[in-house]
Amino acid sequence: ERGEYDHFMLKEIHEQSESLARSIMPYINQATQTVSVPEAAETLFADADRAVAIACGTAFYAAFTAKYWFEQIARLAFEPDIASEFRYRRPVLPQKGFSLFVSQSGETADTLAALRYCRENRTPAIAVVNVPESSIAREAASIVPTHAGPEIGVASTKAFTAQLSVLAVLALSAAKARGHLLPGDEMNYVRSLLALPRKVTEALECAGQVREIARHIAGKRDVLFLGRGRYYPLALEGALKLKEVSYIHAEGYAAGELKHGPIALIEKGLPVVVVAPKDELFEKTISNVEEVRARGAEIILISDAAGIKAAGKRADHVILLPDGDDISLPILSAVPLQLLAYYVALTRGTDVDQPRNLAKSVTVE
Ligand code: F6R
Repeated sequence: ERGEYDHFMLKEIHEQSESLARSIMPYINQATQTVSVPEAAETLFADADRAVAIACGTAFYAAFTAKYWFEQIARLAFEPDIASEFRYRRPVLPQKGFSLFVSQSGETADTLAALRYCRENRTPAIAVVNVPESSIAREAASIVPTHAGPEIGVASTKAFTAQLSVLAVLALSAAKARGHLLPGDEMNYVRSLLALPRKVTEALECAGQVREIARHIAGKRDVLFLGRGRYYPLALEGALKLKEVSYIHAEGYAAGELKHGPIALIEKGLPVVVVAPKDELFEKTISNVEEVRARGAEIILISDAAGIKAAGKRADHVILLPDGDDISLPILSAVPLQLLAYYVALTRGTDVDQPRNLAKSVTVE
């Protein structure tokens, strides 16, 4: 039940500290501070040449974020794809690799069809699903469940962060199996994963401020979301969340793509949400911020303390994230994006939990 919350979406956003803890703990050995995933999955990692990761919507953005972890930390070629495209393309599958399916419901028709294609072509399938009795779970060679608990709001929130956390554990396990993770680094990542539930609670402290920004955005026609590297998929997810619950037109873009077209859209007063904790690409993102700001865009920067300090007056509004690393910060960035979509929708009076034209589980194509 909704309890003290006005909507399931808000309740599920606030539950993420517990849903993340439940999703991470089964894959952590606390005594040794190491990751441990089902053996069937682990054996696929060591000599994989390549992996494909298939999903739809928000689950696809989780898979897309995981690409950065699998490539950078595990040094494994990892190709995320949208199920409805993948299934009809007769895609070339990995020779020695595996396929990964990400789905909250485990019943999405296109994702299930893509899984069947991989099975028919003898590519082992790992499923990251939130419903263990689902069709996708039943048909996969190996299941690595998320334990987000039932998600009632049509817009996915806690299932997304649970998917990210489990994909992070898989990427770390792959990195280890492939000899790319030093024991000290594994311990640091494990500590950072274990700190996530507490950090999510910290991240939720931005709610009041996000609400103010949301009141301002609620009157706008379009919103642009920008990110680079591991934050690019988060920009896409932020835009999807906003459009599905508030019906405001939103686009997510890779910050570096701006000058290849979308910069033509920038006009005075256009809100641009920039997801950019301070990392090795931060300065590049900030130079894109300067370009849109010079054309009158209003910058809403989602960043950590170091990023907010470095951006200085170049941001019109800032949303502070707790400190973290290349795994925890993308996960934490989801929180203000979800709150922003929620509060904009609330201001506009749309049906947050049951947006028009949407179904929780898309079992037909
Ligand atoms: C967006 C959303 C959808 C789902 C997509 C896949 O908020 O909820 O985009 O993520 O329909 O659904 P599952 O994960 O059940 O396969």
